[in-house]
Amino acid sequence: MTIDKILAQATADALKALYGADIPAEKINPQTTRKEFEGNLTIMVFPFLKASGKAPEATAAEIGDYLAANCAAVEKYNVVKGFLNISVSPDFWAGVLADIAATPDYGFTAATPDSPLVMIEYSSPNTNKPLHLGHVRNNLLGFSLARIMQACGYRVVKTNIVNDRGIHICKSMLAWQKWGNGETPESTGKKGDHLIGDYYVLFDKHYRGEVAELMAKGLSEDDAKAQAPLMLEAREMLRRWEAGDPEVRQLWQTMNQWVYDGFDQTYRRLGVDFDKIYYESQTYLEGKAKVLEGLEKGLFYRKDDGSVWADLTDAGLDHKILLRSDGTSVYMTQDIGTAKLRYQDYPIDRMIYVVGNEQNYHFQVLSLLLDRLGFKWGKDLIHFSYGMVELPEGKMKSREGTVVDADDLMDAMNATARAMSDERNALADLPAEERDQVLETIGLGALKYFLLKVDPRKNMVFDPKESIDFNGNTGPFLQYTYARIRSILRKAGQETVPPAGVAPNDKEITLIQLLADFPSTVADAGHNYSPALVANYAYELAKNFNQYYHDYSILREQDDATRAMRLSLARTVADVLRRAVSLLGMEMPERM
Ligand code: ARG
Repeated sequence: MTIDKILAQATADALKALYGADIPAEKINPQTTRKEFEGNLTIMVFPFLKASGKAPEATAAEIGDYLAANCAAVEKYNVVKGFLNISVSPDFWAGVLADIAATPDYGFTAATPDSPLVMIEYSSPNTNKPLHLGHVRNNLLGFSLARIMQACGYRVVKTNIVNDRGIHICKSMLAWQKWGNGETPESTGKKGDHLIGDYYVLFDKHYRGEVAELMAKGLSEDDAKAQAPLMLEAREMLRRWEAGDPEVRQLWQTMNQWVYDGFDQTYRRLGVDFDKIYYESQTYLEGKAKVLEGLEKGLFYRKDDGSVWADLTDAGLDHKILLRSDGTSVYMTQDIGTAKLRYQDYPIDRMIYVVGNEQNYHFQVLSLLLDRLGFKWGKDLIHFSYGMVELPEGKMKSREGTVVDADDLMDAMNATARAMSDERNALADLPAEERDQVLETIGLGALKYFLLKVDPRKNMVFDPKESIDFNGNTGPFLQYTYARIRSILRKAGQETVPPAGVAPNDKEITLIQLLADFPSTVADAGHNYSPALVANYAYELAKNFNQYYHDYSILREQDDATRAMRLSLARTVADVLRRAVSLLGMEMPERM
């Protein structure tokens, strides 16, 4: 039993013995004692005053006396107003450390075949351009959530919906046909997603020229945009695609494959993956069928121009288009089909969509539509909505000058890690290959931690310099702490089992108590869908270890048993740090 449960039970016993009160232990929640007071855990006695009929101080003192006499774990207590601060005996903490050190997979709960199944969708790119900084935040959040839910004992399916069809990819295809001269990723040495992205940009450039020309001839902007020859051609291409035209399909397949090869590289480097990838081209017809079915049932209505709509005004929303007048499907249509297929493929208990907050409305509508279509799970969809991320003004614009490319960003992080390591003259004695790997781990660690340590709902600025500062609340700070411990353990040269009979000092107890908090931190993170809770926990642990290490020596400790206990504590801190950041998709270097 964990110490907070032990104290809760003992307190419940005390209330019964002292006042005849029946207060269940589950209602009593000891909290970590605030730094400025003596003690490890604190119980607030205000809820017990009715039972005791006494002042807060007197009640706390009576309960404290009872605990000190009857609960072996309690060494002493002090009272500050209505707060009963309890010092748990060092021997008890020594036992806690021994238990943690001996628990494989400490803090993580394994799923069973009966565990609820959570599907988490993230990434979900369009195939007309490479991944950017926003996708990076998305991928990291989704992957981290998946790891956290797994650690909480859920079965998890990581999924992705690739929006691989539609007008956007037709624009890239058309531009490539017109101006590409048969270029390929091989012939240019460009990643396929970047190549296609460049043609998308090229389309836009020519298209804007056409629009400007038409407007100069007196057309309104809307008319010019709709009537520009390039747009008409792209639409025609989409129509041919939907009709299954072999030539268009062939080109589409080839170009999408270039993009997927590019995405795969980016995903691999970022360290994220998927269990099952859905493609819009394989789901949109399902969606269309569902919409037509809904139309027949009278759930939706058709306008004169032939388009199909849902009236959501009774739910406080507006009218939503589901099929265009030419019968082609819209973004919403494919989401209906995709959801249906997913629930067909998996016994999903919870569906989480990691998608930016600019689509809040979309998911509100999707949930309603699915519910109306009779999917009983429609109401319970979870949209994990997150805010925008930008770079500080002026830093690292992408080739387009607007968005920050994911690959460029990772390159830049790597380069910064390298420059810093050169400056510190570190890692010089490592073989080049290992050194490269460590630098990549640092660069990515900085990126991941910085993006995940904050509230996902908030817009944020990613500051590369700040993210990689070894002394800040950063990934590299955690990595450095880990590498430092690993170095101590290498020098100590032996595997350490915590010796019995060595009582930890106050700073050590603080660390052990933090270690003991890890499982509940993981549970809270899962409950709140919050990688930030894990990040903050890891930071606290690393910070406290560094303070401890500053005050006490480990390797130079003369007393063998104390030294062994400290080594065991250090090893356990390193283990828990590594496990914690693994929930953020981060890795730890053995040296740094
Ligand atoms: N591909 C879409 C975009 O880039 C995001 C898809 C989000 N997921 C979903 N199920 N609608 O905006």
